[in-house]
Amino acid sequence: MAKQSDTKMEDIIALTKRRGFIYQGSEIYGGLAGAWDYGPLGVALKNNIKRLWWKRFVDNREDMYGVDAALLMKDLVWIASGHVAGFHDPLVDDLKTGKRYRADHLLEESGVSVNGVSIEEMSEIIKEKGIKSPEGNPLGSVKRFNMLFPVKIGATEDGSIAYLRGETAQGMFVNYKNIIDSFHPKLPFGMAQIGKAFRNEIAPRDFIFRTREFEQMEIEYFINPKDWEKYFEEFRKETHEFIKEVGITESGVHELEVSDTDRAFYSKRTIDFEFDFPFGKKELYGLAYRTDFDLKSHSSKSGVSLDYLDDESHEKFVPHVIEPSFGVDRTVMAVLASAYREDEMNGEKRVYMSFKPAVAPVKVAVFPLLKNKPDLVKKAREIFAPLKKALGAVMFDDNGNVGKRYRRQDEIGTPFCITVDFDSLEGKGVTVRSRDTGEQVRILDNELLSYLETKLSE
Ligand code: GAP
Repeated sequence: MAKQSDTKMEDIIALTKRRGFIYQGSEIYGGLAGAWDYGPLGVALKNNIKRLWWKRFVDNREDMYGVDAALLMKDLVWIASGHVAGFHDPLVDDLKTGKRYRADHLLEESGVSVNGVSIEEMSEIIKEKGIKSPEGNPLGSVKRFNMLFPVKIGATEDGSIAYLRGETAQGMFVNYKNIIDSFHPKLPFGMAQIGKAFRNEIAPRDFIFRTREFEQMEIEYFINPKDWEKYFEEFRKETHEFIKEVGITESGVHELEVSDTDRAFYSKRTIDFEFDFPFGKKELYGLAYRTDFDLKSHSSKSGVSLDYLDDESHEKFVPHVIEPSFGVDRTVMAVLASAYREDEMNGEKRVYMSFKPAVAPVKVAVFPLLKNKPDLVKKAREIFAPLKKALGAVMFDDNGNVGKRYRRQDEIGTPFCITVDFDSLEGKGVTVRSRDTGEQVRILDNELLSYLETKLSE
């Protein structure tokens, strides 16, 4: 029986590096904390996840408008959104080394719950309990540290300040009026975006879980406030459906009703979807009722009316917003942790990624039984070419022996491996091996594509 429960982070990190999923950013210069680079298989996995999200939340619906806003956004956007004044993490200095830590992390590691605890209270608890830095040194008082990344625009010293966006959400709020003017949508309607966000995290950690540069998939769903509970519930359910679709272990997902004191400054209700990551139960996604906070604030700071006029009731109001927010990298992390398996096959230990076919970076691998037999290689290429054309993510693999190829494909989570053998040369089809069970069936050449299409869609 394949084991999943005691999955270790080091094993996942080692596999993703070894097999070309994810590398440390700027690695040959010693790495840059909080930045990770995706290799060919990581990009494929991430793109598959993003495609499924876009299909579910944009393409399959009639009420969603996709946008791709600039990463650089004017400082006024972030002043209006409240991020310049309120987007803080609690920072504390080691008084001897000057190293900086997240105060809430140090408190949690000392067994103190930080739910609803203010920055001032954190300072007092640190003093009272004599909590020290990881080096055993005394700590200073807790300060607020703003997480936005400022950037200077233009060539002059006094060039204006912009910010790399701290969330994709604001790219949608500032385009709300453009969508209204171009498409005249009726409420409820949503705007959706997938893209990078940047946060100057004090303590990036846990691989791709908490990074300084990451991707989000977000929706701002504009509603009449009287309907907020209905649409909050709709997106709560849809979030669970998406979790299922990408193959995240559902029993490892838990909803957390975020308390008044812990909610972001803009939210009237928030649910965190937490996941049992190998390093503990942590936030995977968020669902928030952002009220009319953002549109009202942008309207008042910019002087541009963002009112909505209801044709039927003739009511004029600023729409309210339900916001489901998904981290792409945290999805990748949860999918990797959910798929990682160790078992024994034919008396040998193996590791395999039990990805759902829809997210698997490679869907099918094709091998000639022997690399040094030109007839077998030629036939394998003939089998490979139409599959590659039809399915895209198909790999030709003739490195090492067949056993080694199976191990390699298992580790990257390829659902099906096809071997072209001597019987294949006599019109007797090819063997198709299933990753999870190792079972092999013989399929005739002309039935192969439809067999695989059926299996991959299961
Ligand atoms: N627009 C709302 C918003 O940004 P958030 O809870 O701060 O809310 C939403 O972030 C999601 O973005 C999180 O649930 C998580 O999946 C992802 N995320 C946030 N900070 C992250 C970080 N430093 N590294 C990786 N992913 C992050």
